[in-house]
Amino acid sequence: MNYRHGYHAGNFADVLKHLALCELLRLLTAKDKKLFVLDTHAGAGGYDLADGLARRTGEAEAGIARLVAAPRAGMPAAVARYLAAVAAYDRKFGPAGGKPRRYPGSPRLVRAALRPGDRFVACELHPEEALALKREFAGDRAVEVRQGDGYKALKALLPPIERRGLVLIDPPFEVTDEYERLMRALRQGVRRFATGCYAVWYPIKDEMADALVRDLAAFKPLVLELRLDGIEPGKLAACGLAVINPPWRFEEAMREALPWIAGQLGPGVSWAVDAAPATPAAPASAG
Ligand SMILES: C[S@@+](CC[C@H](N)C(=O)[O-])C[C@H]1O[C@@H](n2cnc3c(N)ncnc32)[C@H](O)[C@@H]1O
Repeated sequence: MNYRHGYHAGNFADVLKHLALCELLRLLTAKDKKLFVLDTHAGAGGYDLADGLARRTGEAEAGIARLVAAPRAGMPAAVARYLAAVAAYDRKFGPAGGKPRRYPGSPRLVRAALRPGDRFVACELHPEEALALKREFAGDRAVEVRQGDGYKALKALLPPIERRGLVLIDPPFEVTDEYERLMRALRQGVRRFATGCYAVWYPIKDEMADALVRDLAAFKPLVLELRLDGIEPGKLAACGLAVINPPWRFEEAMREALPWIAGQLGPGVSWAVDAAPATPAAPASAG
């Protein structure tokens, strides 16, 4: 387990995933019914962009920093809400304005959206990351941090008593059987809790991604993708998020947000929003 999300915090992949996560949370908490959220691969919770690992890669500079610097005029509402969540977290660490210094991981974004009575379990396997996550939420009774295998949590915690839930599955894809493990756990999860909303992040970098997208298509997900141009070999150039059972109006919000985000991230960045691809989505610049 070498993966440390701190190197990648706030990059284009986080932007796609966290924009969608914020919108899913907003739509799912609009109903006056309790919600259960499970983050199977939670990471450290929050990341230092100014002095931490992120500075060594510069990935946040080409990701969240570009959105923060973008003009507000014409900004889609979902993007404005996501940036407001990022800014609210950053403000806890110093005065507002300028480049973000701290970036919220998925557990922080979930926490910010929870209402009293909602339930949130965040799983992290890596001992150091799990410790950081526990510190991040020390004394916060609304967040249950578990050090352990997030795939096992799918079986243990689904279906939730609330009967309404959002599951984020965001593995590091550093082991060769990750795709198989993910699909096995997801099938089991959906069998136990068919009406849940599941958001599955994946890198698009080899034929295994094609296989994953093909297998995910069985769940008829809404598939979101971002692809960068001119990335040096070996670095992540494209990624996707498959959302199973998305709430009403989510697709509409993503169709508005992704072209704008692609435009801000730079020339040659393409996007796709695809309702249920029969084959792996081809590079596209339109939905
Ligand atoms: C991509 S990062 C998570 C980022 C986080 N979801 C976010 O958006 O801020 C993946 C995390 O999964 C952890 N991990 C790897 N295998 C795991 C497993 N089987 N169960 C739980 N966590 C795991 C890694 O240590 C890493 O911190």
